[in-house]
Amino acid sequence: MLNFGRARNQARTARPVSLGGMDYVDPKRKGSFVGKVFLAAALTALCIIMIKQSPSLNSPSVFSLHEPGVTHVLVTGGAGYVGSHAALRLLKDSYRVTIVDNLSRGNLGAVRILQDLFPEHGRLQFIYADLGDKNAVNKIFSENKFDAVMHFAAVAYVGESTLDPLKYYHNITSNTLLVIESMAKYDVKTLIYSSTCATYGEPEKMPITEETSQVPINPYGKAKKMAEDIILDFSKNSDMAVMILRYFNVIGSDPEGRLGEAPRPELREHGRISGACFDAARGIIPGLKVRGTDYKTADGTCVRDYIDVTDLVDAHVKALEKAQPGKVGIYNVGTGKGSSVKEFVDACKKATGRTIKVEFLPRRPGDYAEVYSDPTKIRLELNWTAQHTNLEQSLRTAWRWQKSHRDGYGPSSAIF
Ligand SMILES: *[C@@H]1O[C@H](CO)[C@@H](O)[C@H](O)[C@H]1NC(C)=O
Ligand SMILES: *[C@@H]1O[C@H](CO)[C@@H](O)[C@H](O)[C@H]1NC(C)=O
Ligand SMILES: *[C@@H]1O[C@H](CO)[C@@H](O)[C@H](O)[C@H]1NC(C)=O
Repeated sequence: MLNFGRARNQARTARPVSLGGMDYVDPKRKGSFVGKVFLAAALTALCIIMIKQSPSLNSPSVFSLHEPGVTHVLVTGGAGYVGSHAALRLLKDSYRVTIVDNLSRGNLGAVRILQDLFPEHGRLQFIYADLGDKNAVNKIFSENKFDAVMHFAAVAYVGESTLDPLKYYHNITSNTLLVIESMAKYDVKTLIYSSTCATYGEPEKMPITEETSQVPINPYGKAKKMAEDIILDFSKNSDMAVMILRYFNVIGSDPEGRLGEAPRPELREHGRISGACFDAARGIIPGLKVRGTDYKTADGTCVRDYIDVTDLVDAHVKALEKAQPGKVGIYNVGTGKGSSVKEFVDACKKATGRTIKVEFLPRRPGDYAEVYSDPTKIRLELNWTAQHTNLEQSLRTAWRWQKSHRDGYGPSSAIF
């Protein structure tokens, strides 16, 4: 059975550095006799721990073999908000799932919940690794046989991206390149890529179709666009099946209340509007700051297309089912309906039932005035339409989780 103990061992093998964390485990170094005895004792203890925690260490892992009738999906960033919801849906639909995450943005608590829900052997494994570490990524692909990759892992705050652009090019563009290189090398046949409407920038014409030209105006959108370009160029000469999904603004959480959105507290200030709504409702922050009331929109506040995470992961599964070798499908994933920040704030007040103080401030750099999708293509080609289109209802679901998880997934899931 796969428990977290095994997952940690896998993590260690994927990150040789952490194994060498004990400085004295250096075979080249001439230690004293006492040192050697100590070393031997330490290694023995480590082996015993590993054997105890890894009952299946001796037999080849099912994750390392292609099994007919089983689709094994690598979910990068599977401890994160969207990634964990996708992993849950895949597991529910009988896929075999490997989550890779280094928990810099994700939550171990989310992985633990998935492991508790699907404890059977061969359903879910968790590998703690950094996707920016080429050797680690290569090792993961060499030791596991994936049929498909859903690449969620990324940093995803527009505001942060304007303050720290290199972080975005590194963790989005460069890491995606490493993932594609490994997929090519190990002949993984299908890629579902998480992209964003931020790649469109601020188009003149609404709604946004997949043909709308992509002129991103912040490093987040640019980094994602570059990653898309890498994927598109690669696919011209490859028979990989590729689906690129451009998300609009993701909200909501698992209707059964098992998973939620729990960003790192230190990222709150960059955070998304839904997080701010709940923080304000809980009194963690004094109120909501609406940045920009002079946009060219009906009520002057920004307009966004809010897509429920349950619908979003449904789009991923449909994309995976319909992906075809040598073809690229690009789809907007939105509801097709825009809501203003003011409307969002009203829905937030109703969903939480709390009084929320609202402060109106000048615009924030990097924000677009109005963004909503034309979801026609994905409906026609993937038979997908958004089902959870009531803003207040989506927020109510997410609020239920927030209320019962005051510390997110708990303090223990933040440290590693
Ligand atoms: C996690 O991975 C990212 C992406 O490569 C990296 O930049 C970051 O430093 C890693 N964080 C930890 C805690 O290892
Ligand atoms: C992203 O990349 C930068 C390198 O520019 C790294 O220092 C940072 O830790 C990464 N951040 C995350 C959250 O992965
Ligand atoms: C499209 O989806 C609907 C609802 O999920 C389903 O009832 C219908 O059979 C699907 N149509 C096709 C052509 O797959």
